[in-house]
Amino acid sequence: MTRTYAIRTYGCQMNVHDSERLSGLLEQAGYERASGGVAEGADVVVFNTCAVRENADNRLYGNLGQLYPVKQRRPDMQIAVGGCLAQKDRARIIERAPWVDVVFGTHNLASLPVLLERARHNHEAQIEIVEALQTFPSDLPTRRESPYSAWVSISVGCDNRCSFCIVPSLRGTEKDRRPGDVLAEVRALVEADVVEVTLLGQNVNSYGRSFGDRFAFGRLLRSCGEIDGLERVRFTSPHPRDFTDDVIAAMAETANVCPGLHMPLQSGSDAVLRAMRRSYRQERYLDIIARVRAAIPAAAITTDIIVGFPGETESDFEDTLGVVRAARFASALTFKYSPRPGTPAADLPGQVDKDVVQDRYDRLIAVVEETALAGNRAKVGSDVEVLVSVGEGRKDGVTGRVSGRARDGRLVHVAVGDAEVRPGDVVRATITYGAPHHLMADGGIIEHRHWRGRAVANRPEPAAGRRLLPLTART
Ligand code: 5AD
Ligand code: SF4
Repeated sequence: MTRTYAIRTYGCQMNVHDSERLSGLLEQAGYERASGGVAEGADVVVFNTCAVRENADNRLYGNLGQLYPVKQRRPDMQIAVGGCLAQKDRARIIERAPWVDVVFGTHNLASLPVLLERARHNHEAQIEIVEALQTFPSDLPTRRESPYSAWVSISVGCDNRCSFCIVPSLRGTEKDRRPGDVLAEVRALVEADVVEVTLLGQNVNSYGRSFGDRFAFGRLLRSCGEIDGLERVRFTSPHPRDFTDDVIAAMAETANVCPGLHMPLQSGSDAVLRAMRRSYRQERYLDIIARVRAAIPAAAITTDIIVGFPGETESDFEDTLGVVRAARFASALTFKYSPRPGTPAADLPGQVDKDVVQDRYDRLIAVVEETALAGNRAKVGSDVEVLVSVGEGRKDGVTGRVSGRARDGRLVHVAVGDAEVRPGDVVRATITYGAPHHLMADGGIIEHRHWRGRAVANRPEPAAGRRLLPLTART
């Protein structure tokens, strides 16, 4: 009988994309996707983990604990743990949860099927963590979650050493794919009816340094602009240090590059940025934003912010609030600082008191919501083009709306009346209402384009209810 698998993914888009590769590998090895979720009887359960903040650790061990009784009932079931937390904790995972069968790291995804086989055959847990990337994930088979929207990784790893961040020690130094390989993948996706790609890298702006082309990222965006049938190009994440004018020009001048920019701020205080080892300062960050807005007036800018970094004073925090107001972010992912073992910041004096962090966190969210709401309200009355990713809400008679992203990345719920709108379709509608986290377009659709893959015989329908991923990394 065919063995089934289920994957639970934590963390950022890299992990979401890696999980598509893990699914591809398992299916190539003869496994079938389980129809239920992780808990409902899959023969192999894979956790693709994240280690960027501490609560990720706790969650994994909690989930493994829940599977213990299941494993006792069905000893033939296998549990595999991969991703960043596996790379970090290694054998400790088996020590804490001896019912785990396989531990694999971030550099050796391709080993998963063999390790599962070996664990079954030898009745012994298999741990394989390697220190250098074995195969670029893009060279592995894939089972994409969406037939119309795809991730394409342009680099893996990171050469920066932000003092709070555990990523470089788990994902290694930056390795760039050649532009020809990236573009070949994008073209193949478009041939397979993908209309939106998101270029992924830990720091997309340093793309190309390894093959001696400082302007490679801007060039890559422009090359994507030449691909017929590719409607939307997004990317995440850039680093303010390397954000150069050629990239802004490429964004502004390439019709299919979306007017959305996710650029992590982390802190608005120069002293904190210095302690974080982020080499830009408040002024430079705001200057980039001013340039982006001058070149792309409709750009929606989003960010990541950490509160409570060691040594952060009230006045540092107020600098962050000031930048949030000045930058008019469309949204922000906000995080409480979480000390990560082995990172320089974990040993810094001046760790901020929990209550103070909570208070700042709440105040930050209030200001982010203010700027987000103002930005969304300003959209009322304008027309947007929405790529639908969650459809057919109206069939349950509850909302009568479909949901998707506008070109600038904002989440829009659109009332579609009787139109047969499905995921992958594009609708145009006028915004009638703006809330902090979404827009509504309730006046009916002005235009409706079917996803071109709809007509292809034998293609599974894109799943309604596809998860609307946040615009950026989230754990
Ligand atoms: N504590 C809190 N947030 C962190 N991030 C990365 N490391 C930490 C940490 N130790 C946040 C940053 C980054 C996002 C992916 O996660 O804001 O941009
Ligand atoms: Fe971590 Fe991003 Fe800094 Fe790299 S650039 S060290 S991934 S926060």
